[in-house]
Amino acid sequence: MTETSTSDRPTALVTGAGRGIGRAIVLRLAREGYAPIVVDLDAEAAEKVAAEAGGRAVALDVTDTDAVRELAASVPNLDVLVNNAGIFPPAPIAEVALAQFRAVMDVNVLGPLNLIQCFLPQLSAARGAVVNIASTAAKAPVPGTAAYSPSKAALISLTKLCAVELASTGVRFNAIGPGGVQTEGTASVSADPKREARFNELLPLGRRALPDDIADVVPFLVGSDGRYVTGQVIYVDGGLTESTIPFLQAAQRI
Ligand SMILES: NC(=O)c1ccc[n+]([C@@H]2O[C@H](COP(=O)([O-])OP(=O)(O)OC[C@H]3O[C@@H](n4cnc5c(N)ncnc54)[C@H](O)[C@@H]3O)[C@@H](O)[C@H]2O)c1
Repeated sequence: MTETSTSDRPTALVTGAGRGIGRAIVLRLAREGYAPIVVDLDAEAAEKVAAEAGGRAVALDVTDTDAVRELAASVPNLDVLVNNAGIFPPAPIAEVALAQFRAVMDVNVLGPLNLIQCFLPQLSAARGAVVNIASTAAKAPVPGTAAYSPSKAALISLTKLCAVELASTGVRFNAIGPGGVQTEGTASVSADPKREARFNELLPLGRRALPDDIADVVPFLVGSDGRYVTGQVIYVDGGLTESTIPFLQAAQRI
């Protein structure tokens, strides 16, 4: 574990925050007055975002229990935890190696559990909130991504379990399910302009999401306006997962 700089405002830890959705969440929470702890595998990326947001950068792997425990020992107060780090390597389900399937479950499910377990005392003391970044893939499986859809379904189930079993700690647990979002991690998906235009045309809100579209939902879930909300999933997907009929109509168009 390597790290830089500290602060003493109310604290929000975001994983996978060196780029993409995680970076946007850090910047939004910083504007809300939180001191962000920017966690990423990539030390340089974490430091860049921490410098932008006025926070602390920590380079670690969310699946590394010792590193997360060591970090937790150095963070006396934590109000908000956003489990955003996730991986989505392509693989056919009929052939995916069990080791690769396990690696995705490790990062996308056991990573968030690891952070929740290690930071529960601080979150409980603050009567804080956890947001897990799931995906529409939890609801509508994405062929060719093997463990990804099962991992996000498991993350939603974990969110609901924690909301109920840990309610007495005072911590609320919710999830966000983004649809298609333009990030460094999905750059190849929207690289073909024709395919991208077709995707946008079929989407009810008419465009792929930007990271800020996802980040802007977080303050409600972690703030006082969301005080009676726990165990919920907000799909921030431009209507993607509710557009079966428009999709069929488009498919039948002559
Ligand atoms: N982009 C999308 O279209 C989309 C859609 C639905 C859900 N999501 C989810 O949103 C989250 C962020 O997606 P993104 O597109 O911004 O991803 P991204 O690949 O652009 O960025 C992910 C970041 O997480 C870090 N990371 C990966 N594994 C890590 C680990 N083990 N420990 C610590 N850091 C790690 C990476 O270094 C990277 O900086 C993911 O959980 C993803 O599944 C993304």
